[in-house]
Amino acid sequence: MRQPALPHFLQNEVKMSRTFKTANIILILLTALFLAGCGKIEQQKDTGKVEEGPAVSVTEAVEPTAVPTEAPKATATPAFTATPTPVPTHETKGLAEYYKDSFPIGVAVPNGVINNKTKYWDNILHNYNQITCENETKPDSVLFQSASAKGLPGTYLEAAIHFDGCKKIVEFCEENDIQMRLHTLVWHSQTPRWFFTEDYTPGGALVSRDVMLKRMENYIKDVLEYFDTNHPGLIYAVDVVNECFDKGEGDTDGVRMRAGDNENLWYTVVGADYYYWAFYFARKYAPNYMTLYYNDYGMTGKYEMVIKNLQKVKDEGLIDGIGMQSHLSVNDRIATSFMLALRSFCNAGYCVQLTELDIGVSDTTEASYNLQARKYKVLFKECQALIEKGYDFRGITLWGVGDGNTWRNNDYPLLFDKNMKPKPAYYGALQEDGILAME
Ligand code: GLA
Repeated sequence: MRQPALPHFLQNEVKMSRTFKTANIILILLTALFLAGCGKIEQQKDTGKVEEGPAVSVTEAVEPTAVPTEAPKATATPAFTATPTPVPTHETKGLAEYYKDSFPIGVAVPNGVINNKTKYWDNILHNYNQITCENETKPDSVLFQSASAKGLPGTYLEAAIHFDGCKKIVEFCEENDIQMRLHTLVWHSQTPRWFFTEDYTPGGALVSRDVMLKRMENYIKDVLEYFDTNHPGLIYAVDVVNECFDKGEGDTDGVRMRAGDNENLWYTVVGADYYYWAFYFARKYAPNYMTLYYNDYGMTGKYEMVIKNLQKVKDEGLIDGIGMQSHLSVNDRIATSFMLALRSFCNAGYCVQLTELDIGVSDTTEASYNLQARKYKVLFKECQALIEKGYDFRGITLWGVGDGNTWRNNDYPLLFDKNMKPKPAYYGALQEDGILAME
């Protein structure tokens, strides 16, 4: 039978792998030697969310206690695919199907994507089995200012909420048997100031810690109860707290006090233990099928601090998982630094999910796209290997359907281009043999 022609970029990869096979092996060995001696995690260039990595030793990775199989080493030796197949065979399956025995694959969507059936639905249904609302379940979408203000004094401790924003996406998920990640309950950003004030106006005086804790409890209760009552089973995971630890913008423990010029009102009004209470209330009201996550970016540079700060929450059984946002760039070291952070969370007893994956690249040249494809391949391959080794890894969510729908407009970070044409990155994520699994 006649084989379909190899996409252009794969032909080049194949050519390259043949011509430079010997050179690559030498390069790999040199890279391994270099990285083995490299003590500094590369800075995570994640578009403004930049986190300087501490000095770490790549030998720090510990085995998951439950599984006595061989240790996954933080080795720099890439898995080299010596015999490329000349056909992108996995594309017909799509991502969700390809990874069905390993983990779910999610995608973040805004209403605009769900509203455009012709352009996006087939692609979503072909590739993903989980969804996160990009904005529609954030506090600024759910909190209902006019009803909260009008309802006073009855609403003083319990702000009014509504779910008009996420209605379409929820319907889409239910109609297509897709589970949803609830993103996010307690976050310094996209949470309006009026939620923290006496009269629910943006300029009002801030309430006391006790009042705000009560508002927090009621908000968490009301949101979780709404989904459990109206859409039972839909929410598989909840980002209870988002982005609460930051070395540069935090207090001495790294609890976030501000973000740029803006103060973190949760910290100002409730105090440094606000994240503890968020998990406390989430556990109190969440049904068992919702796993509770702490979600953050720049984790390669701060996983030790995150683990330390969450210890009490963990010891009290209030948290299940860590969401590594994973806003990465092609300059990040995936097989070494990134996977070390991931395994460290698993070894500390958390399940882990990559919740907002995108890998930015500087331009759309073939060379850049191929580099990006390799990064995606390395990452997906490494994550799949985690499952084989018994780590509690729960899946990967892409932060957008394509480069036409991304907050990182100049980074071309996703698997499809703005016309939803598959990029080499897509074939990398599908681990096609024509893409080299090397960084
Ligand atoms: C963070 C948040 C996301 C989103 C991105 C930018 O990662 O967790 O919800 O706002 O920033 O799109």
